[in-house]
Order: sequence, then C-alpha cells, then structure tokens
Amino acid sequence: EKGGYDYFMLKEIAEQPKAVADTLLGRIDAEGSLTLDEVRIPASVLREADKVVIVACGTAFHAGLIAKYAIEHWTRMPCEVELASEFRYRDPILDRRTLVIAISQSGETMDTLMALRHAREQGAKVLAICNTNGSTIPRESDAVLYTHAGPEVAVASTKAFLTQLVACYLVALYLGQRRGTKWGDEIRAVIRDLSRISCEVERVLETMEPVRALARSLKDKRTVLFLGRHVGYPVALEGALKLKELAYMHAEGFAAGELKHGPIALIEEDLPVVVVVPSPRGRSVLHDKIVSNIQEIRARGARTIVIAEEGDDAVVPYADHLIRIPATPTLLQPLVATVPLQVFACELATARGNEVDQPRNLAKSVTVE
Ligand code: M6R
Repeated sequence: EKGGYDYFMLKEIAEQPKAVADTLLGRIDAEGSLTLDEVRIPASVLREADKVVIVACGTAFHAGLIAKYAIEHWTRMPCEVELASEFRYRDPILDRRTLVIAISQSGETMDTLMALRHAREQGAKVLAICNTNGSTIPRESDAVLYTHAGPEVAVASTKAFLTQLVACYLVALYLGQRRGTKWGDEIRAVIRDLSRISCEVERVLETMEPVRALARSLKDKRTVLFLGRHVGYPVALEGALKLKELAYMHAEGFAAGELKHGPIALIEEDLPVVVVVPSPRGRSVLHDKIVSNIQEIRARGARTIVIAEEGDDAVVPYADHLIRIPATPTLLQPLVATVPLQVFACELATARGNEVDQPRNLAKSVTVE
C-alpha cells in the first residue's frame, strides 16, 4: 500500500505532481477561464462580498497565509487569515458580505468546524477547501471545492498542502473573474503557468538527492531557522513546522524583514538557516533585500541554505548550500519552494531514527479542541 516507498510520506511527496494536476483537472478551460461552477456560490454573492476571511489550522493555515497574497493581488478584496482556534473566541466582525474560506485536509478539524459554524451563524457564506469527500466541514459549508489529492495517510501534510494552494489560487482567480477584475497579461500568464505547474513540481522532485545528503549532515543540530519574504514567509513557517513535527528539532520561521527586530540575535557560528529567495524578476526589490539579509546572517556565522530560482546568480556568493527551483510567477513559487523543505524534514526525521508517518504526540486529524 506504500507503493514501494518506505513511508507514506515519501509516497505522498512523490504523488504531488499528479495531485496538483488532479486539483486543476477540468477547472481551467481552453480559453484560460476558470470553470468552478461546481462550488455553486451564486454570482451575486461573489460580486457583493466585501471581504474574505480564511480560517484553518497548521499546514492548512499556511496555505491560507499564501492565499491572502493571491486574493488581495488578483481581486483587490481585503483578506484576513486566522488560526481557527483564535478566530472563534475573538468575536470576529462578520456579516452577509463576508466570504469565509475554511481550509482543511481532513474536513474534521474541530477548531475549523467551530469557526465555520460561528461564521455561518453571523450570516457569512462559507466555502470549504477540503480533501475528504463527504466529511463534516464540507457538509456544513455553503459550498465546497475539493482538492482531489487522494487520501493522505502520513500525519505530516504534504500533497494536501500543495493542492490546497492550487485550490486557493483557483478561488482567487475565479473571484477575480466573477467580479470583473481586468484580465490582463499577468493573469493570463499565471493561468498558463499554473496549468503547467505539475511538470515543475516533478522537476524539483528529480533534483532532491543533494537536499537529502544535506539533511543527513545536519542530524545532530539542535536548531534550524527558516527565513522568507512575501509568499516565501509562509513557506518558511511551513518548513519549520515540518521539521518540528518530524525531526523534533527546534525550528522557527521568520519574515526576513523582521531579522533586525530581534531574531538576528539568535544567529551564531554554524547555525543552519534556510532562506527562501523570491524571484529576481518581478518584485526585484524583495529579492535584493533578501540577498542583503543572507549576507548579514552569513557575516555572523550562519550556515546558509538558500532556495533560489534557476539563473539567480546574485545568491551564489552567499550560499553555503544552494537548492535550485524552477522559475515561476512570484505568487506560485510556494508550489515549488515547499517541496525541498518537505524532503529535508522527512530525511532528517529518518536520520534521527524517528517514526516518519506517525510522529510522537500527533494525530492525523484533530477532532478535539
Ligand atoms: O485536516 P486539517 O487540514 O484541518 O488539519 C490541520 C492541521 O492539523 C494539519 O495541517 C497539521 O498541522 C499537519 N500535521 C501538519 O503537517
């Protein structure tokens, strides 16, 4: 049942190109328009919504953080992202014009379920992004977009995360389409690149051997830090979460721009720091800023592990280890940048003799508060 792999997690990492393709299947037509009529949210609701609120936990929350960048950029609607466990105890401001998106692989996470119940009581419409057909969260939502990743068995979420991202991009583009956002060249290029992204994920998977070797060499470290900016920041959080739950190591993700506001004090000789570098094309300001962040931490002794686009030469002098990912539009980069972090955490867990599919103290779905 593990299909020849030692762990379900390895199998699920390898399944990601297909999972991503399955999430897209039948949802983009030949003209590059989105066909999500299956979600059955009336066009008037989408047109009149004045705010999006995303609720989720854990890895699904990280997908939501990335979705915020896409939704705000492509639809110009404000979007808040909240941990479901915080949201419902905060007396959030919601009404009939709020579109709530609940993201959950299992569809059974209690905190997310309670958050969506609360939102519906306030009159908000809820769209679930879910991987499990017929589970409670989609049943209790107004609409659902299934991710079609296939069953995810390993406790650590991998293919569910990538497909949640794809579903979020589809929703963001669909919202834009329904609300009459100008369908310019940028959006057309994104849709084209999104429809080809599964090949890029496949290419990343083919180049993971050096990442595995690097992970093994770090097995006796106590701490690994992760830095990113823009959509690379939630990717850094996700990389850190994977490492905590699988390798039981102290791992933290930071927004690179926050370094000087505290975290840089943690940098010491030979501390591994993974940096997710935004594309040098497009928002090149962000790229240049992160290159200076890498220089700053390296000058203080950090061992820099740099994840950067193919052809990005500016990072080469400051990277102790360089992990290449294919060039993608900025907002889609998490789909390729997360994969090495999953492989890294999985290999470290194995090297440390941990139970990969069933880490200590964790359950696949958290159905209690
Ligand atoms: O089933 P859900 O997507 O609602 O689960 C949410 C989290 O419990 C889950 O993503 C958890 O953080 C994973 N173990 C992370 O790998």
